[in-house]
Parts: sequence; structure tokens; C-alpha cells
Amino acid sequence: MSEPIEVLPAGECHVWLARAPVVLPVNLVRCYEAWLTDDEWARYQSFRFERHRHLYLLTRGVVRATLSRYADVAPGEWRFAVGSHGKPYVALPAEAGRLSFNLSNTDGLVACAVAREVAVGVDVENVMRPGDPMSIAAQFFSPREVRDLSALPWSRQRERFFAYWTLKEAYIKARGLGLAIPLNQFSFLLDEEKPEIGLLIDEGLSDDPCSWQCRRPSVAPPHALALLVRRGLRADFVVRLREHEVHSGEAEEAQPMIDQSRAGTSLG
Ligand SMILES: CC(C)(COP(=O)(O)OP(=O)(O)OC[C@H]1O[C@@H](n2cnc3c(N)ncnc32)[C@H](O)[C@@H]1OP(=O)(O)O)[C@@H](O)C(=O)NCCC(=O)NCCS
Repeated sequence: MSEPIEVLPAGECHVWLARAPVVLPVNLVRCYEAWLTDDEWARYQSFRFERHRHLYLLTRGVVRATLSRYADVAPGEWRFAVGSHGKPYVALPAEAGRLSFNLSNTDGLVACAVAREVAVGVDVENVMRPGDPMSIAAQFFSPREVRDLSALPWSRQRERFFAYWTLKEAYIKARGLGLAIPLNQFSFLLDEEKPEIGLLIDEGLSDDPCSWQCRRPSVAPPHALALLVRRGLRADFVVRLREHEVHSGEAEEAQPMIDQSRAGTSLG
């Protein structure tokens, strides 16, 4: 028996999180593989490392299962298209196209943000990934953000760096333009005394910072998450974090998520 359809109110954004297990159960692998289109299958097969292949598969499974919670559409029936800068959106079934979504994945975590007919962008990062925050910030962040980071003691720079990083990624993903937006031409304003997150956007980017709702819902370490929703003139969206259960399989029937030949990823 299929699950009942859930209501996604117009004023809500749901962020579904899936912890990527060390091993992906073989039945889940088979189920998610069966949902892939030919193009997705080709991309799935093209990954060199097993852990990247499985993270890709888990991400595809999560987005299909998530969208099917809110529409009477079987997970394997969704068809996606991408915008001119690569942002995926629902192409079919056409009547379900009112669901907007955005995806992010990193070592150990997949996130899928869903809302109705508004631009959303989500980013997750594993804050333990190696790399020097200050040198990356100097290369990509705005002067204001770099100044803020520089003023912090070393022990707090990494956390603040990932707060900026995820927010900046979520913004360029919400707009759908990716790295076509210069990362140093907009700034987030973080203040530990205030829950609100400010946003300043250079004139050249032709965007109204007030139209965005910026959030950093807390997720379990070692991950950081940021979400941007284009609220327009609406009141703030209610943001709900939801957990997509991924049960680890028995070791002997599980597919490895860890590729021992690759010890980590770098920040660059
Ligand atoms: C591609 C990009 C949009 C996100 O890349 P990312 O942060 O490495 O990866 P994430 O897991 O967060 O997001 C990838 C997903 O975003 C979606 N996506 C791709 N292009 C997108 C776009 N233009 N807009 C919104 N979403 C996009 C896709 O669903 C993609 O996953 P898929 O290919 O498996 O479907 C882009 O911002 C990028 O390449 N960033 C590089 C990171 C960087 O250099 N950051 C500098 C410091 S801030």
C-alpha cells in the first residue's frame, strides 16, 4: 500500500536530510537504481569512485522519494530538466511542476529542500574537510566577510567560514546561476547576538536582499547547512527539517560507501 500524500503548505519549506551510511543496503541500491533514467544511469556509472557513485544514487533516490511524498506520482515517474546554469527542476509530470526543490550532498549527508513555486537553494558541507579557511575566504568571499573572519580567534574561524560558505552556496543555488554569480559581490552578515542573518548584494547583481529568507538550521556535527528561500512579499516561511531514514544493511549484503583509496576531499 502506498503512503498517503503529505500536504506541503505554500508558506512552508521542508528540508529532508538523509544520513549517508557507511554501507548502502543492497535492497535500497536496487530500488534506487530502478528509478534512474537512462541519462542518470549513465552518469551513475561514470563515477570513478564507489563512494561518489553511491552518494549520487542516494541523492537521486532521496529527491524522488521526497517529491513523491507531496504528489501522487511514483518515484520512478519523475523527470527532471536543468536550467541554463544547471539547476534541476521538475519537468514531468507537468502538473507537479509547482514543487520546487534543490539538492546538496557532501560526505555523509544528503539534503533536499522542497517548497511550492518559490526559488530555494540549499547547501550542506562537512566541516571536517581539510583546507585553510582563511586562504579560501581571501580568494572567494567579499571583503566584509574576510574582515569578519580575520577578526575572529583562530579557534572560531572554521565554524564561521562554513557558515559563510554554505550561505553563499545556497544563495547562488537558489538563484540557479551557480558560479556565474561572483561570490565576492554579495555578503552575509552574521551576528551571534541576533538570530537574523543579513544579506547585502552589490548593485551589479540586480537583486533585492529583502526578498530572501536566510536560515542556518542546526544539523548534527560534522555538518553545516544553509537554506535560502525567495519569500518575496510573503511572511517568513516555516522551515521544517525532516529525516529521510536510510537503514544500513547487513554487512554481507551491503554496498560500501567508503572508498579506501581516497582519504578525503579538499576544500578548493
Ligand atoms: C554546482 C554548484 C551549484 C554546487 O556545487 P557543490 O556545492 O559542489 O555541490 P552541492 O552538493 O551543494 O550541489 C550539487 C547539486 O546542486 C544542483 N545544482 C547544480 N547546478 C545548480 C545550479 N546552477 N543552481 C542550483 N542548483 C544546482 C544539482 O542538483 C547538484 O547535484 P546533482 O548534480 O547530483 O543533481 C556550484 O555552486 C559549484 O560548483 N560550487 C563549487 C563550490 C565552490 O567553489 N565554492 C566556493 C566557496 S563559497
